[in-house]
Amino acid sequence: MRRRRARLAEPQDRRAVERQREKGKLTARERIDALLDPGSFRELDALARHRSPALGLTEDRPFGDGVITGYGTIDGRRVCVFSQDFTVFGGSLGEVYGEKVVKVMDLALSTGCPIISINDSGGARIQEGVVSLAYYAELVKRHVRASGVIPQISLMAGPCAGGAVYAPAITDFIIMVDGTSHMFVTGPEVLKTVTGHEVDREELGGGYGHSTVSGVAHHLASDEKSAFEYVRLLLSHLPSNNMDEPPVYAATEPREFTEEDLALDTLIPDSRNQPYDMLKVVHSVLDEGELLEVQPLFAPNMICGLGRIDGRSVGVVANQPMHLAGALDIDASEKAARFIRTCDAFNVPILSIVDVPGFLPSLEQERGGIIRRGAKLIYAYAEATVPMVTVVTRKAYGGGYGVMGSKHLGTDINFAWPTAEIAVMGAESAVTVLHHRAVKAAADPAAERGRLLAEYTRDFCNPYVSAERGYIDEVILPHETRTSVAEAFLALQNKRLPTLPRKHGNIPL
Ligand code: HXC
Repeated sequence: MRRRRARLAEPQDRRAVERQREKGKLTARERIDALLDPGSFRELDALARHRSPALGLTEDRPFGDGVITGYGTIDGRRVCVFSQDFTVFGGSLGEVYGEKVVKVMDLALSTGCPIISINDSGGARIQEGVVSLAYYAELVKRHVRASGVIPQISLMAGPCAGGAVYAPAITDFIIMVDGTSHMFVTGPEVLKTVTGHEVDREELGGGYGHSTVSGVAHHLASDEKSAFEYVRLLLSHLPSNNMDEPPVYAATEPREFTEEDLALDTLIPDSRNQPYDMLKVVHSVLDEGELLEVQPLFAPNMICGLGRIDGRSVGVVANQPMHLAGALDIDASEKAARFIRTCDAFNVPILSIVDVPGFLPSLEQERGGIIRRGAKLIYAYAEATVPMVTVVTRKAYGGGYGVMGSKHLGTDINFAWPTAEIAVMGAESAVTVLHHRAVKAAADPAAERGRLLAEYTRDFCNPYVSAERGYIDEVILPHETRTSVAEAFLALQNKRLPTLPRKHGNIPL
């Protein structure tokens, strides 16, 4: 036993480990040690070895078969983990490897603890053929069964190619490391052979592209260590499973108004077309001003992230007027929809902060399926049963009003600032649609248009029409936002909503 243990402690292939280091990558075991609480990791199946004649049934078959699996703790909370070992058969998945991963995933699901995969692999092991493919399918099936039951996090720390990308794609969060992790369904070589198109690995599947354009990645880490830190932070906001509540920390913020609260009173610019940074509102509401953004580089017109209010986790969904005036486009809708569903699955209340001029008008968006894809956001809000609070800071026009956490979709408590404009459309468009003939016929068209604009603004662009009907529960001063929101979530803490039995909904995809 000692001889075997000593062998386990040694790298199985020193040259492969050196190559790993040259690429700036840690080994599979080092990654687990860096991610988990020191000394907490217990390995499973360390002595497992392949039994494939195609690879040679020799005595020096590598132990572990290219993946390290086991359990340990993060901040004292139990997690299961598997870390692909690129130094053994390129981290490729064979039969024994598959058995190990299936075992640890089953353990995570049956004990209700998060599963974290650290990916660095050539995918299905070519020599083990269809058996490898079968195990990938077994793995993906488990990811689907665990979806919404336990948090699943994929940390991409190397290549992930071919159908293998669909395992992380099904999980809740994908974290990529800038420069060293790559994800593509078809690699550069095959792409060149089939299409003649030459593109390098980074451009095709690097972390930057997946964080900014495709939206596949939820976070782009500058190096592996900061990727582990992001995973630890993510888990600090999530429960261990869907039957559990997220961890509760001590409340840190005072009930008195702070200078940061008071600064909100002058945040909204005089001109309604001038942008302001919605992150200021978000930070002012959260404990210590801390927001863990999810997909910060993708669809920046929509802010999504996790924070705490009174020590309790909250998911924030907010329009960002600094990008596309905060309009809803396909990417923003899908980003927020996915995030809302993640929060709802894991009992994280949702705070929506709204300044939205509506859906983005464009041929490209219509052709791209904004109807089908924007519907996901409506679906996600309407389906959510966690406590929900909304604050309208400025515009809530048309479809944007209905979609962005309106009471009608299921939000529990809705606040608006006095600067809120809750209307079918802005004054400029409304006056054009309703009065273009009257303006044209007027002796002084500009003066008449100005008068009509002022009239519309007075009658419609305010929060009071909605407040009169109870669509807005309370109009608050901006500096009252943090305390109002905190008290609202406190009141909603025991919210329970019955749902009708059904197999599952049919979210537009
Ligand atoms: C067996 C593999 C392997 C694989 C890599 N290796 N991929 N062995 N099966 N799939 C081995 C290599 O032979 C090499 O062994 C070692 O791992 C390191 O690989 P390199 O190519 O030298 O490394 P690098 O240059 O960094 O390139 C990494 C790579 C490339 C981009 C991942 O190896 C690659 O393209 N591999 C194939 C990727 C792929 O298409 N896989 C199939 C995916 S389909 P030696 O002995 O030389 O060190 C799939 C189906 C899932 O996974 C189904 C889901 C339902």
